[in-house]
Amino acid sequence: MPEITRDVVIVGAGAAGLTAANQLKKAGLSVAVLEARDRVGGRLWTDEIDGAMLEIGGQWVSPDQHALIDTVAELGLETFSRYREGDSVYVGPDGQVHRFTGEMFPVSPETEKAIAEVTARLDAMVAEIDPDRPWAHPNAEEWDRITWDAWLRTQTDDDEAVRNLAFATGSAMLTKPTHSFSLLQSLLMASSAGSYSNLVDADFILDKRVVGGLQQVPLLLAERLGDDVFLEQPVRTLHWGDDGVTAIADGMTVRARSAILALAPVLYDRISFVPSLPRLQHQMHQHLSMGFVIKVHAVYDTPFWRADGLSATAFSPYELVHEAYDNTNHGDERGTLVGFVSDQNADDLFRLTAEERKERILESLSHYYGPEAKNTVVYYESDWGTEEWTRGAYAASFDMGGLHRYGADLRTPVGPIHFACSDLAGAGYQHVDGAIRMGRLAAQNILEARG
Ligand code: FDA
Repeated sequence: MPEITRDVVIVGAGAAGLTAANQLKKAGLSVAVLEARDRVGGRLWTDEIDGAMLEIGGQWVSPDQHALIDTVAELGLETFSRYREGDSVYVGPDGQVHRFTGEMFPVSPETEKAIAEVTARLDAMVAEIDPDRPWAHPNAEEWDRITWDAWLRTQTDDDEAVRNLAFATGSAMLTKPTHSFSLLQSLLMASSAGSYSNLVDADFILDKRVVGGLQQVPLLLAERLGDDVFLEQPVRTLHWGDDGVTAIADGMTVRARSAILALAPVLYDRISFVPSLPRLQHQMHQHLSMGFVIKVHAVYDTPFWRADGLSATAFSPYELVHEAYDNTNHGDERGTLVGFVSDQNADDLFRLTAEERKERILESLSHYYGPEAKNTVVYYESDWGTEEWTRGAYAASFDMGGLHRYGADLRTPVGPIHFACSDLAGAGYQHVDGAIRMGRLAAQNILEARG
């Protein structure tokens, strides 16, 4: 089996690992990036399905994501705005379809008042939090003891308000049931986007896309590394100690002075560490788990909703597809909708056959856009739950109490082993922006340690 020696071995060729590798190489260090899959990009994957270019993984860029925006610009990529002209659609508890403009859902004046008041409270709490250190807030322990759902229900007894407030960080972001994560975890999610109001503002958080697809970011970063990226090399064993590391992959071995684990934290235990990782990491990593969401792509001959004066932006905490948007590619004559089915709804759907799933999902889309939504020319479900090297979507978060208990240790290196992934980020948490920030941080820590 080939054996090579480098300054740093990077495990994982997602946005985090490739960013770190480029930073280190620029600083004059030699690197090897070992990637389990037969492609680079990890959770960024732009592919052609039945003749339609689809963003199977991450795609949107928001204006606060400076690390990603700078990278996109530096790589010479162009962006375009999501189509958002016309009315949005909301389906209420009685199944009634309402058109609306602006950010506030068309709910009763009492529900609107409750949503506005709790939003103001959340914005004030988020403003006190440092996204890179949410555990350091004086109330962090208390906020990590109560579930997001339970806290919202202490704020208002208006169920429709609670469901609408909850889904911004629940179904839409952490993609876990709102009773399964804490208020603190929710505040981190909001804080990573600047405020709770930013997070619920689709025009902000889902602002731009990259022409040709966001996977070009990792593809171009990998191109710069040339022969230093090795595909189909899942790392199975990592020996580590004072004198460095040895990473043993399926087809090669890399000896290095440091390692960066640039993979989702739920996958750390796929690697045998010799000696084993310390007790703290063994414990901590068990409290992080992936959310789960199905990203649904529906392509039509035309973007038919536009003629009807709809932007295609649609929300409902009562619908199977809890949110959907116009996702038409740049310069494409065909129209594409993207919708999301989250957490328990996603579990339930995967108990059905593919035909039944499609029928249920298109039925839900037709509630927003009318019967034409059922006439797809291409239909595809991104299912990251079956991907061995990801195991969920979008990213990992702590269980109840975990963020306060372990957060401060999450990014701490263990001897020569450094950790980098969007799932460990503060600013840009669970997003490509966070992956790039974590890649930069791990590289900087290695460079500083070398003096
Ligand atoms: P990532 O998981 O991408 O990379 C880790 C790499 O490590 C993978 O390539 C994996 O194969 C590899 N690996 C794992 N174990 C290994 C081993 N033992 N040996 C070698 N290699 C190993 N973000 C955003 O900003 N805007 C958006 O619109 C979206 N939307 C979105 C939709 C969907 C469906 C998903 C799944 C995700 C998003 N995201 C997103 C999130 C975003 O895609 C994600 O946060 C980053 O791409 C994660 O990048 P990382 O490099 O941190 O991990």
